[in-house]
Amino acid sequence: MRSHGCGDLRHDATGQEVQLCGWVDRRRDHGGVIFIDLRDRSGTVQITVDPDLSPEAFAVAEHLRNETVLQVNGKVRARPAESINERLATGMVEVLAAGITVLNSVKANLPFPVSLHDEENTREELRLRYRYLDLRRERMNRNLRLRHSTIRAARNYLEAAGFIEVETPVLTRSTPEGARDYLVPSRVCGGEWFALPQSPQLFKQLLMVGGLERYYQVARCFRDEDLRADRQPEFTQLDMEMSFLGQEDILALNEGLIATIWQEVKGIELPLPFPRLSWHEAMERYGTDRPDTRYGMELVNVSDLVAGMGFKVFSGAVAAGGSVKVLPVPGGNEALSNVRIKPGGDVFSEAQAAGAGGLAFIRVRENGEIDTIGAIKDNLSEATKAELLARTGAVPGTLLLFGAGDTATVNKALDRVRQFLARELGLVKPERDNDSWNFLWVVDFPMFEFNKDENRLEALHHPFCAPNPGDLGTDPAQWAHTLPTARAQAYDLVLNGLELGGGSLRIHDSALQRQVLQTIGLPLEEANRQFGFLMEALDLGAPPHGGIAFGLDRLVMLLAGEESIRDTIAFPKTQQARCLMTQAPADVSGKQLQELHVASTWSEDS
Ligand code: AMO
Repeated sequence: MRSHGCGDLRHDATGQEVQLCGWVDRRRDHGGVIFIDLRDRSGTVQITVDPDLSPEAFAVAEHLRNETVLQVNGKVRARPAESINERLATGMVEVLAAGITVLNSVKANLPFPVSLHDEENTREELRLRYRYLDLRRERMNRNLRLRHSTIRAARNYLEAAGFIEVETPVLTRSTPEGARDYLVPSRVCGGEWFALPQSPQLFKQLLMVGGLERYYQVARCFRDEDLRADRQPEFTQLDMEMSFLGQEDILALNEGLIATIWQEVKGIELPLPFPRLSWHEAMERYGTDRPDTRYGMELVNVSDLVAGMGFKVFSGAVAAGGSVKVLPVPGGNEALSNVRIKPGGDVFSEAQAAGAGGLAFIRVRENGEIDTIGAIKDNLSEATKAELLARTGAVPGTLLLFGAGDTATVNKALDRVRQFLARELGLVKPERDNDSWNFLWVVDFPMFEFNKDENRLEALHHPFCAPNPGDLGTDPAQWAHTLPTARAQAYDLVLNGLELGGGSLRIHDSALQRQVLQTIGLPLEEANRQFGFLMEALDLGAPPHGGIAFGLDRLVMLLAGEESIRDTIAFPKTQQARCLMTQAPADVSGKQLQELHVASTWSEDS
């Protein structure tokens, strides 16, 4: 139906007869001559319709609405110098229409203008409701192509390294990755349920037991969790598992993968190897296990220094087993007024949203004078003051923000305030202009963390991660004691403060696997009921193995300079986990429910 893509025409096509297909991006009537910007996925080109040269084409062009689907044939000609459009790749030429055929007309009002001239101002609800129109636009077109190039680069790299792609089931039983499962009732096995996979974790391990040695998959995963800009209920992992490789080999192989993607998609050469930080150090210095290292403002633990101070908020926190940490803000003295740090202020609100009661502060004035308020002032000795300045590296103009309380809350609050202030103070560029790629491996995670609500240990990653052998010890009789505080052989890849992926070496010994399941509170019988198939496989010749999974949507989001993974997925869901286009989830008939042996208990007030 066509000889060229609209966006492919350049000066060298001048004089050629071409046939194009596409959508009317805009139509301009210049009294006598009509200009049509014709768009397809390759770009846009100007069609010029002159009534003297082609009265039939002109008659059609006179009544065209935007987004009408056209076939146009005509001759390419150079535009006169004064009408060259620098902003358009095809801007030096135009196609003089000889004939225009309407392939399909637009029969209703467009809910929003598709033309790239109007992209910015469309509400996201509308974009999602009419996603197919949104996909016609330059931005989504670019993002989906970038996603495609990313997957292609990954496939090529992994296949060259001996990986093969294997698909794993979507109807399966639940694996404990920490989120709620999406469940599917079985019609045939009444009263029983499939779960959609939160990840292919157990299947990929079983593929290693199956002797595949190197597996990868572009795997759809499902998690029923609270949604944010970087979380979707169904998302895609670039998932891998490999046998007979140690942690160092796995990290090196994955650094190569990421470097290849950046090289092929962005033309950027990343310096290798990526820096590493232990989980403990990350928490200590940044208050989070996924620190943004594009800027400083590292936290400083001053618990020992202020424990004996007369200021109750500080000494009380330390006495109760908590911490006092400082976030030094260079230039913060001038940039942040007291109003912003005290209750009601925006900085205060950030800390409060993370569970902190407030933020104590000390100002180092531009003239070097120390200024603070109330109780701190009365209790700050000269020696403590000097030590505080030395430890935090405070210079004139620095604002010191203090978090005091239980360590987890202090970390959470100061991490949040640190990220907020980095944006406020312009220390990081908006996503779209970002040009720093601060990769970081976080390693040596603890195996478990304490879940206060359920009063039990839970796996920090998932219960299949292998513990550090040094922490575990060689005597299985001691494992019940050594496991709870052991570190895992687990690693996360963090980029600019976002968790891009994570993985670990796995347990390949059934006795150790049982012990881990017991440590997270699964009685032996329950462990066998849920994971008997895994333990059985581990006993039948499981090789040492490990793996990793990257969040593909997040990877593409960062590559594309977008702020939400919704802009990297063709048909994403809203924050309420709804598809606005198909209106899913939706009601089903009573008959369908009956067949599935399911009755709904839902009511308006449930
Ligand atoms: P994990 O749970 O860390 O590991 O997931 C791997 C990566 O997937 C991405 N991700 C998400 N992306 C979008 N929406 C979500 N709701 C979402 N949840 C996770 C993140 C994350 O780093 N089985 C292990 C991997 C392994 O051990 O090999 C796993 O799933 O980028």
